Amino acid sequence: MTRTAVLVKPDGLQRGLIGEIVSRFERKGLKLVGLKMVAMTDRQLSDWYQEHKDKSFFGDLKSFMGSMPIVAMVWQGLDAVTVVRKLVGTTLGREAEAGSIRGDFGMSQQYNLIHASANEDDAKREVAIVFGKDEIFDYSGAMECVIYADYERGEK
Ligand code: CMP
Repeated sequence: MTRTAVLVKPDGLQRGLIGEIVSRFERKGLKLVGLKMVAMTDRQLSDWYQEHKDKSFFGDLKSFMGSMPIVAMVWQGLDAVTVVRKLVGTTLGREAEAGSIRGDFGMSQQYNLIHASANEDDAKREVAIVFGKDEIFDYSGAMECVIYADYERGEK
C-alpha cells in the first residue's frame, strides 16, 4: 500500500467542498490515515512548491495558499498516488475531465481546488512537511477484504 498527500486549497475550503472531496476518496476505497486543518507557513510552502520556485507565479501561489487555513490529508491504498491524481483531474479546471474533482467543480488554473502528490517521492516529502509521525495512523480497515482481493493485500 502507498500513501499520498492531498491539500484542499483555500478555494476548495471556501466553496464548501471538503465533505464532497473526502466522500469521493472514501467511496473509491481509499483509506484516510491523516487529516488536519493547517495554516501553512511561508517556509512550508517554499518546501512544498520547491519545483516551482523559478516560476513567475511562485509568489502568488504561496501567498494564496498561505492566505487562510487549508485541509491536509493523507490517503492510503494500492497505487494511491495514481488513483488520487485521476480522481483529482488535470491542473486547468476548465479542461479537466468531467467526473474528476477539478472537472466537476473548477474553472481556474490557480484556483484548482485541490493538490495531490505527483509521485511517491513527492508524496513522502509532502506528508513530512505537514504531518508529524504521530499524526499518521495505521489501523485495520474493516472494508479492505471487499475492496481488495487477498493477493492484492499481500495476504496470499
Ligand atoms: P498544483 O498542481 O496543485 O501545484 C502547483 C500549482 O500552481 C497548481 O496546482 C496551480 O494551482 C498553480 N499554477 C499552475 N500554473 C499556474 C499559473 N500559470 N499561474 C498561477 N498558478 C499556477
